Amino acid sequence: MEISVAEDVRAPETQVPGALDRLQAAASADPAAFWAERAEAIDWSRRWDSVLDARRSPFNRWFAGAELNTCFNALDRHVRAGHGSRTALIHDSAYAGVQTRVSYAALLAQTARFAGVLRALGVGRGDRVVIYMPMVIEAVVAMLACARLGAVHSVVFGGFAAPELASRIDDCTPKAVVTASCGIEPNRVVEYKPLLDAALDRATHKVPAVVVLQRAQCAAALQAGRDHDWLASMAAATPADCVPVAATDPLYILYTSGTTGQPKGIVRDNGGHAVALLWSVKAVYDIDPGDVFWAASDIGWQVGHSYITYGPLLAGATALLYEGKPVGTPDAGAFWRVLAEHRVKVLLTAPTAIRAIRREDPDGQLLRGKHFPHFKGLFLAGERSDADTLRWAETHLRVPVVDHWWQTETGWPIAANPLGIERLPVKHGSPSRAVPGWDIHALAADGSEVPTGETGLLAVRLPLPPGAATTIWNGDERFDRAYFRDLPGWYKTGDAGCLDADGYVYVMSRVDDVINVAGHRLSTGAIEEVLAAHPDVAECAVIGVADELKGQAPLGFLVLKRGVTRSRELIAAEVVAAVRDRIGPVAAFRQALVVERLPKTRSGKILRGTMARIADGLEVAVPATIDDPAILDEIRAATRG
Ligand code: COA
Ligand code: AMP
Repeated sequence: MEISVAEDVRAPETQVPGALDRLQAAASADPAAFWAERAEAIDWSRRWDSVLDARRSPFNRWFAGAELNTCFNALDRHVRAGHGSRTALIHDSAYAGVQTRVSYAALLAQTARFAGVLRALGVGRGDRVVIYMPMVIEAVVAMLACARLGAVHSVVFGGFAAPELASRIDDCTPKAVVTASCGIEPNRVVEYKPLLDAALDRATHKVPAVVVLQRAQCAAALQAGRDHDWLASMAAATPADCVPVAATDPLYILYTSGTTGQPKGIVRDNGGHAVALLWSVKAVYDIDPGDVFWAASDIGWQVGHSYITYGPLLAGATALLYEGKPVGTPDAGAFWRVLAEHRVKVLLTAPTAIRAIRREDPDGQLLRGKHFPHFKGLFLAGERSDADTLRWAETHLRVPVVDHWWQTETGWPIAANPLGIERLPVKHGSPSRAVPGWDIHALAADGSEVPTGETGLLAVRLPLPPGAATTIWNGDERFDRAYFRDLPGWYKTGDAGCLDADGYVYVMSRVDDVINVAGHRLSTGAIEEVLAAHPDVAECAVIGVADELKGQAPLGFLVLKRGVTRSRELIAAEVVAAVRDRIGPVAAFRQALVVERLPKTRSGKILRGTMARIADGLEVAVPATIDDPAILDEIRAATRG
């Protein structure tokens, strides 16, 4: 593939007072001109016919007519520009005690070879590949290899159980699955292959090929004819070159939780994604080529896609892949070891990780004597950052601590204190201001703006910037209905909140049935489906209750069928086990309470919000629409203690 190597032309727009206002105004006034300028930093094999084709809004197409290859932009062009010896990826496994550094040249060689493996298995442009892997270098290689071929990857988080994996396989019908023999969790090795085999048995779609990375901690049994050993396949493969794809072609599908049990496959394109991600790495995080960017997340989540794999590599920076926890691997000093040893410039994680560290080391003893001369910022996302956590991090780390807000759907931050543009005064409780490209407003249900300072539905004026979801896989109608139909001309974020007079955004809570458990997004509806399937359960409800460590924890309520005499404790234990089997350990569903009835409105809607307030010990005004206020006393009694 012949592609011209563009200059590094990222705009010198940093640290000038008022820079954010100017960029925000430019992005709002003429989105196409704004993003066309930023698109010059990407190498295209064919330029676009139109920067923004909004004829089928909200199904906008950025850089329509253009062609590029995302893997080329992430790897090849840096090597061609003479940076092949720069470290692209650092793998630090706190479990295995292993650290590996991979240069851009070496990562390119591995990726091209693995693309050859996939190609030999029949994977080509537009085909889907499911990646079900732990935090190992090969997971990143597999993602980039798909991008290289123009194939569409769908990474599934390892903490999901076989039925969840099966439903994703059936939805995206992959030509191949890439997996590893195991992942490592504190105190246990999680065997991935039996989980995958169970999912493949369960799925209707028959996957013709599986590639298995055998890890030292456990060997997986391979099924002849279908399963291929990673190492042997690599040895036999011929490296594959980049396949140019349309800017509007899908790069990946990432499933996230919606309001029902059916997962939503968020689709991201190639062109808009590359432009937005590359720009955000400098603008939001102030990362330059060669800097070490550590997103302490998992490649199975959005943060992992954007800022472990694609963002840092598009920017020519060094990405850090950490296999471990903030605590217990071996202690609450693990993050500080990694920061120091790998000269990390920016750490991005969830507030829950900092809460876990603080709980074990409240006075920051494990930070004593540690110096991080390279460390310039801690970014927190995934849930609301509480003031105590922010203050603790500011006091002990002595770097800017940036709460920033984004979603799987948006792909990159909507609101942040953008350190690469202009460092704003911090207001605890707010992820600061809209990032250029995102025009955020708080709206009433009828689409009118609510007054400054008042809570409304947080919405973004269309068009969404490049890099945002382009649709739901197999679900254009669902995409339109879920995000755009209620508020024409806007993207409905699903979060409630407000803006203050300085334009700072406050994100208060979800307006739907999504909860955030340890920074992981879960659907209470999905958990309810599992509970409702229990033969003794007549009715159920799941709510998110406040949890000191994880932010929220799911809590189930069960109403048993008339005549059921089995022990309530036994039934509760059975539904807890069923959630672990059906959804996975990541749901962290540990408690279900049996009650006589659920509080409902006269029209039959379960009052989950009221139940959650009661469980959190908050004041509750008895809803005017409730059919029987006495039921609230039972909920109060059941949740006490
Ligand atoms: N494969 C298999 N199982 C996994 C897994 C994986 N990749 N990731 C998590 N699990 C399991 C865990 O072993 C645990 O199982 P258990 O019930 O047997 O203990 C369960 O899923 C819940 O895991 P987790 O949410 O990680 O909770 P934890 O109690 O082990 O750790 C924290 C708590 C706060 C330390 C941890 O949640 C954390 O580091 N969170 C940061 C979250 C994050 O990075 N979010 C991404 C957004 S930035
Ligand atoms: P996910 O799609 O998993 O990234 O989850 C997105 C959801 O997490 C958002 O809709 C919010 O509810 C929540 N969230 C993410 N970042 C923040 C933040 N900085 N403050 C408050 N909530 C957040």
